[in-house]
Amino acid sequence: CGIVGYVGSKNAVPLLVEGLHRLEYRGYDSAGVAVAGPDGLGVHKTAGRVADLRRVIPDGLVGTTGIAHTRWATHGEPSDRNAHPHLDTKRRIAIVHNGVLENSDVLRKRLTGEGVELASDTDSEVLAHLIARSEESTLEEAVRDALSQVEGTYGIIAMDAENPGELIAARRGSPIVLGLGEKEMLIASDTAALVRFTEQVIYLEDDELATVTADGYRTSTSDSTDPRTTTRPPTALEAGSVDYELGGHPDFMYKEMTEQPDAVDRCLRGRLDRRFMSARLDGIGLTPREYQQIRRVKLLGCGSAYYAGQLGAELIEQLARIPADAEPASEFRYRNPVVDPETLYVAISQSGETLDTLAAVHELKRKGGRVIGLVNVVSSSIARECGSGLFLHAGPEISVAATKSFTNMGVALALLALELGRVRDLSMADGRRLVDGLLALPAQLAGILGQEPGIAGIARKYAGAEHMFFVGRVQGWPVAREGAQKLKEISYVHAEAYQASELKHGPLALIDPEMPTVVVLPADDLLAKNLSTIEEIKARGGPVVAVTDADLPDGLVTDVIRVPRAERELAPITHSVALQLFAYHLAKALGREIDRPRNLAKSVTVE
Ligand code: G6P
Repeated sequence: CGIVGYVGSKNAVPLLVEGLHRLEYRGYDSAGVAVAGPDGLGVHKTAGRVADLRRVIPDGLVGTTGIAHTRWATHGEPSDRNAHPHLDTKRRIAIVHNGVLENSDVLRKRLTGEGVELASDTDSEVLAHLIARSEESTLEEAVRDALSQVEGTYGIIAMDAENPGELIAARRGSPIVLGLGEKEMLIASDTAALVRFTEQVIYLEDDELATVTADGYRTSTSDSTDPRTTTRPPTALEAGSVDYELGGHPDFMYKEMTEQPDAVDRCLRGRLDRRFMSARLDGIGLTPREYQQIRRVKLLGCGSAYYAGQLGAELIEQLARIPADAEPASEFRYRNPVVDPETLYVAISQSGETLDTLAAVHELKRKGGRVIGLVNVVSSSIARECGSGLFLHAGPEISVAATKSFTNMGVALALLALELGRVRDLSMADGRRLVDGLLALPAQLAGILGQEPGIAGIARKYAGAEHMFFVGRVQGWPVAREGAQKLKEISYVHAEAYQASELKHGPLALIDPEMPTVVVLPADDLLAKNLSTIEEIKARGGPVVAVTDADLPDGLVTDVIRVPRAERELAPITHSVALQLFAYHLAKALGREIDRPRNLAKSVTVE
């Protein structure tokens, strides 16, 4: 979800709607706005997109204080009544909320018992009533009082229609950032909404509250019994507004795929050490001796970040010969994991806000685990919570389907594996081979992007398929998983990823001429094994699309997507980029809305 607030002297409405538009990648089930103006409180909301909201906002709506929200439904279906902002019964207090209130059922019951008529099915609405019913005299105190009664996570903005000119924002687990203007202030859940407005921002910490007026802001702890003033000086924004513009591209996924050569270049810059043929990863802050003491590596992430972690685990085992494995952070956090002092834990996340990953980091830290972050968004919660790690430097990623961030996760993990390897047994010669291999990647990715028309042609051929298999072996397996995920997310074609080796143990039963299989086929030691898998598929009449840097005899497979030959450990990166283009063009052929896949959101800050 995304939230925005404005207080100043201009009409808030266009600024709020523009802010929402920038946040739409965070959720697009419903949207709404509330402004306090000369005619009192104006509230307009609708199920659907920000574009739909624009249509329901009357032309004359004005107000110099306002809040707005774009929603990714968790509690309560996407509908007009469940859209934010939510109001109290007297329509005086308006709130927007990101996160999940875990005790909302209890609070809803209590409020209904006290005669309050609830207007929605959401957990968030209770906040408006709790604030309105508080006996505290200021909005700030009332918000504190309300927050002391809720359990769960929140990023909220509240306003009081009878006392416009002031907004109260607070965070616990869901980001809030203030944007500083000239006699005006903006508040948002994400800097994307602020880039056009200001270059000066303030990030709130958990359990912190901000009282914001046109003239400035004051921050304090949100504790209702002993609130204390905090000092939060502004910092400069990391990204400029061009990062959030399409710049002539059809959609953000396309734009971000084309940015990959530059993104990889940025991720490598200053991090390769040609003297020792290793990586120089200052942000991790470990000495060679500390690197040597690591006995295991555990990689945690969700979605594409988890698949990147799987790829990283393989790289670390291969290059450093340290046992390594990946696990979805969403599973790890719930199973009372054993935290081992000799294990290096790596939290991987593009946004740095995925709640499951953040919760895994909290669990690790609570148990004394050593955890580093591999995160794209520098100011994010996971980056700050980890305190050390590697930034991905992919630049802002807007497309829900991860592309350049996944690629840079692969690159960053290769750097980590190289460093871990070089303090152990990886030879100088292998180090050199990998350093050169990494430096060659940007040009190789540009080569794959240059083959787009061919890949698009193949993708279109398979656009009629109802189901597809994606298979790969060992390091090709996470590539297959990410390839299948990409296809599912944006085309809605059912795609299932399997280890190529496991195909014969069950899924082969589904192979027939209607079931195409995409085979990740790098020119590595397992090529012969993968070729026999292809024979097994062909023998059952299944079409095969090979994504490969190997020299294949003509006619062996139905279609071939050729990628430049990378160093074998880095081949997953090149093969994945080819599969992004495949998924993209297949989804395009089906007329899908690429940047707004149904039911999904860019980052999931709820459980
Ligand atoms: C969501 C997105 C996925 C993403 C995952 C992890 O589910 O839809 O595309 O891979 O979150 O996001 P993160 O920001 O932590 O990498």
